[in-house]
Amino acid sequence: MSTQTLGIIMNGASGRMGYRQHLVRSILAIRDQGGVLLSDGSRVQVEPLLVGRTEAKLAEIAKRHDIEHYTTDLEAALADERWPIYADFLVTSARVPAMRRAIAAGKAIYTEKPTAETYADALELARLADAAGIKNGVVHDKLYLPGLRKLRRLVDSGFFGQILSVRGEFGYWVFEGDWMPAQRPSWNYRAEDGGGIVVDMFPHWNYVLENLFGRVESVYARTTTEIPQRVDESGETYRATADDAAYAIFELAGGVTAQLNSSWVTRVNRDELVEFQVDGTHGSAVVGLWGCKIQHRNETPRPTWNPDVPDGHDYPSDWHEVPETEVFENGFKVQWEEFIRHVVEDTPFPYDFLSGARGVLLAEKGLESARAQRRIEVPEVTL
Ligand SMILES: NC(=O)c1ccc[n+]([C@@H]2O[C@H](COP(=O)([O-])OP(=O)(O)OC[C@H]3O[C@@H](n4cnc5c(N)ncnc54)[C@H](O)[C@@H]3O)[C@@H](O)[C@H]2O)c1
Repeated sequence: MSTQTLGIIMNGASGRMGYRQHLVRSILAIRDQGGVLLSDGSRVQVEPLLVGRTEAKLAEIAKRHDIEHYTTDLEAALADERWPIYADFLVTSARVPAMRRAIAAGKAIYTEKPTAETYADALELARLADAAGIKNGVVHDKLYLPGLRKLRRLVDSGFFGQILSVRGEFGYWVFEGDWMPAQRPSWNYRAEDGGGIVVDMFPHWNYVLENLFGRVESVYARTTTEIPQRVDESGETYRATADDAAYAIFELAGGVTAQLNSSWVTRVNRDELVEFQVDGTHGSAVVGLWGCKIQHRNETPRPTWNPDVPDGHDYPSDWHEVPETEVFENGFKVQWEEFIRHVVEDTPFPYDFLSGARGVLLAEKGLESARAQRRIEVPEVTL
């Protein structure tokens, strides 16, 4: 069977996400396996073009990974027909102008989230892409985590009966950067540079909630900036102007309540860095990045509250791990393969710019709720 080649412009390939998840774990892994398998048995091979601002950095990455093409000239890359896909992993604040240019150039576009800093910009990108008739996709990586894929199976199989509520904990301690280097980029902690945990995490929560449990109809969020001063990559102290923790309640269509804590100022006392508990009339599940344990109604203990007697019941032993029945590949790579099939074969791909815009809207409504200190309705979004 024949193999065609698909050129992919990778803008921001030297960044944390651009390099590790998109270049190394996705595109180079796809290249190494001989491309993406199509429905007719043929393959489409990928050819990356690294784009960035610092030529020496790009040259070093290209050499390290045997990549032929790199450039600092985005305009020339966009004008070149050898590269029909534009992919964007820039800092969020630099994304909209670059994506506008890519839409104008008629490229198919795949991008990191959030698609924009404001809902108005995110919606405009979705409208421009629709009007230009270009294929478009946004990273929805959490849906591809093994734990959430197992959760999806539980939902689809009817395991829960009626789903009542979802409780999620996301977070870990991000070092301030003084005596221990911070493990996230400093722009994440400056609102003026597109930072903040609401802007970062609510787009994820939106697609997780709407794809598994129902559309988010309202949000109440309390946000805080617990660490007001941090130290950046070059050792300079800066003022942290963005929220570093958000405690939120979401009401979903169909009546499910979701409460999700997102925090860069918490120490982990759970099995994984993200964990969701889903409670239903017939069963409950606790899922993380990888794990998924369940408790059926027939195995549910019958606790009675008695503060006078120490409780010797071993609650963790009431849960059973869902067995591994398939091999889970890197979620970013799986989603990349789906997007490439969407571009080449026109297979369905629901995670488009409009879905991205819904995520940005939820972040905006979350921040509005925090400012107003009240519950805010989230309207339905259409083109
Ligand atoms: N899907 C996820 O789970 C996930 C996780 C973290 C970050 N992200 C998103 O990925 C994107 C990148 O985040 P990151 O953590 O990799 O950041 P990063 O700072 O490590 O990388 C950002 C990239 O943008 C480039 N850049 C910075 N300023 C620029 C400018 N003004 N013009 C052009 N290029 C510029 C940098 O050189 C770098 O290549 C963000 O939008 C972020 O929200 C997604």
